[in-house]
Amino acid sequence: MSQLKITSANVNNYFSLKPLLLENGLEAFKSSVDEYTDYLLNDAIRSLNDHIAKTWLLHERATGNIVAYMSLIADAIKLSFAEKELHGLNYPFRTIPAMKIAKLAVNITVAQKYKGIGTIMIQAAEHIAFGLNKDYCAARFLTVDADIEHDNGVLAFYEKNGFIPNAELYNKNRKTISMRKDLYY
Ligand SMILES: CC(C)(COP(=O)(O)OP(=O)(O)OC[C@H]1O[C@@H](n2cnc3c(N)ncnc32)[C@H](O)[C@@H]1OP(=O)(O)O)[C@@H](O)C(=O)NCCC(=O)NCCS
Repeated sequence: MSQLKITSANVNNYFSLKPLLLENGLEAFKSSVDEYTDYLLNDAIRSLNDHIAKTWLLHERATGNIVAYMSLIADAIKLSFAEKELHGLNYPFRTIPAMKIAKLAVNITVAQKYKGIGTIMIQAAEHIAFGLNKDYCAARFLTVDADIEHDNGVLAFYEKNGFIPNAELYNKNRKTISMRKDLYY
């Protein structure tokens, strides 16, 4: 089966993005990494209710199936002088506000059908961050801890989507790589 390329031009024809509210229907979601399947099934609702992470679901309009999910949280990153300069940020403090993609996974059962779903989810996160900035609260960067423990290629995926590694890595054992994308520069 040839894959249908999903872009910002056609995404709304096939999919709709909704916040996770109920546990119903989550069991049909399967990630290539068990940890991400388990998170959606067992932790996403609890994290929502505890105000720890807010999860968004991408539904296929034709079937109602969940094709991808992401969990978003508030964040802040520490940047060096050189990094701040790179983004035109001339401030004396190191900590800059951000919004983080804490989890992102695409349903493997639809991966053969569509291409570009992961990218669409990042664009959706950017859209949400722009809304946050416009109406509520500043976040200069979109951030992620790229999980390279199961798949090294995840780094390339985020780089293709405009993220760069941070000099200060939170996770020194390198199971993840802390990355940022400037939303405005
Ligand atoms: C990582 C993930 C979200 C990517 O989703 P996706 O729908 O396959 O990504 P896209 O189709 O939008 O890919 C965009 C580009 O990145 C590349 N890419 C995506 N995943 C990649 C990987 N694992 N290795 C190398 N390149 C990858 C694609 O080939 C594509 O490149 P192109 O534009 O040159 O064709 C998905 O594979 C996934 O759910 N993985 C398991 C969970 C996980 O690791 N999540 C990341 C947590 S930080």
